[in-house]
Amino acid sequence: MEKGTNFEAKDLSLAEQGNNNIELAESNMPALLKIKDRFTKEKPLQGIRVGMALHVTKETAVLVKTLIAGGADVAITGCNPLSTQDDVTAALAKQGVKVWAYKGESKEDYYRYITNVINFKPHITIDDGCDLVSEVHQKHPTLLKELIGGCEETTTGIIRLKAMEKDNALKYPIVAVNDNKTKHLLDNFYGTGQSTIDGILRSTNTLFAGKNVVVAGYGSCGKGVSLRSKALGANVIVTEVDNFRALQAKLDGFRVMPMSEAVKEGDIFVTVTGNKQVITVDLIKNMKNGAILANSGHFNVEIEVDELKKVAKVRQVRPSLEEFTLSNGKKIYICGEGRLVNLAAAEGHPSEVMATSFCGQALAVEYLVKNKGKLPPKVIVLPEEIDDLIASLQLEALGVKIDVLTAAQKKYLSSWQEGT
Ligand code: ADE
Repeated sequence: MEKGTNFEAKDLSLAEQGNNNIELAESNMPALLKIKDRFTKEKPLQGIRVGMALHVTKETAVLVKTLIAGGADVAITGCNPLSTQDDVTAALAKQGVKVWAYKGESKEDYYRYITNVINFKPHITIDDGCDLVSEVHQKHPTLLKELIGGCEETTTGIIRLKAMEKDNALKYPIVAVNDNKTKHLLDNFYGTGQSTIDGILRSTNTLFAGKNVVVAGYGSCGKGVSLRSKALGANVIVTEVDNFRALQAKLDGFRVMPMSEAVKEGDIFVTVTGNKQVITVDLIKNMKNGAILANSGHFNVEIEVDELKKVAKVRQVRPSLEEFTLSNGKKIYICGEGRLVNLAAAEGHPSEVMATSFCGQALAVEYLVKNKGKLPPKVIVLPEEIDDLIASLQLEALGVKIDVLTAAQKKYLSSWQEGT
């Protein structure tokens, strides 16, 4: 571990590799670079301290540089003990960014680093999973008066924030960046869809074709994982607790059944529900010998890994893959310790996907600064025009042109008199 006043990183000699990766990410995120160019000229974040708890990846580094270009001072830590890319931490630390993160963080370091970000006294928080906001509210209430607002990246974080709002516990406005169409309909679907399978492949190199892949949860993430698994030749089984989503899965052509039945058929299991105890030890005991389990939900609560450790013999068979031998002799494999497999065992979503998510973050920070003091301490949604602007920037980056409504069409859409 290497430490300085404003950083902790595993190995600063990885900085050159980190810079190469950040450059590569940048080349695939032109929409975000457009915002960065505007920020460089207009400096909308001058004097603003932004505290971040986000996966420290090459794509996040591009967001950090965008905020700095806008005039912000930034401090960052990770939001998951296994998702940090150590070369990126090294590159950011060498560029003078306040950064504390390494892959394989202990729980103690994880929370110590969040405290470092809080001690930086941010005006704006950017969170992925709500741990930063939760820590501020529970342990550092004196900071609340300094806070202009926050941004939340993921579904799990929004669920926690809405629970805070319901309890009247939320004390400053948080933009639900996750709820942008250009976030959850792209990042959760295409990003999680591809990167989850990437993580399972990197940790196991298993063949998907002909396998039964059980996907727990049919939200945007589950839909993406199901479709990509099918494209690789797998037979997909979906488990759900929501009637409508179960119906969607059925009509999308997938088998739908309770997990208690799916465990007997599955070869590969992916949890993406955002809830806990989705795959319990009792369920695991009924799985086939050799079953592979992975979680792509934000927290490591979906598969009962800790409970399983108490009743099984554990062996690390290769990076990001543990083998559990049960008392009935069956061997079960778990990828990335049951933490989000796309970041624990691979590199997270591709840059092209993170481009629109992080345009959302950058523009949400600007929106909060522009509307300082005017927004209620609630979970708020960005105005639709901003979401639409992000989609147009990304289309432009992809070289895609679309039609525009004629005056007659616009009139038709806003009138009720015309029928057959
Ligand atoms: N979440 C999922 N993939 C990510 C990535 N590449 N960077 C930051 N956050 C992510």
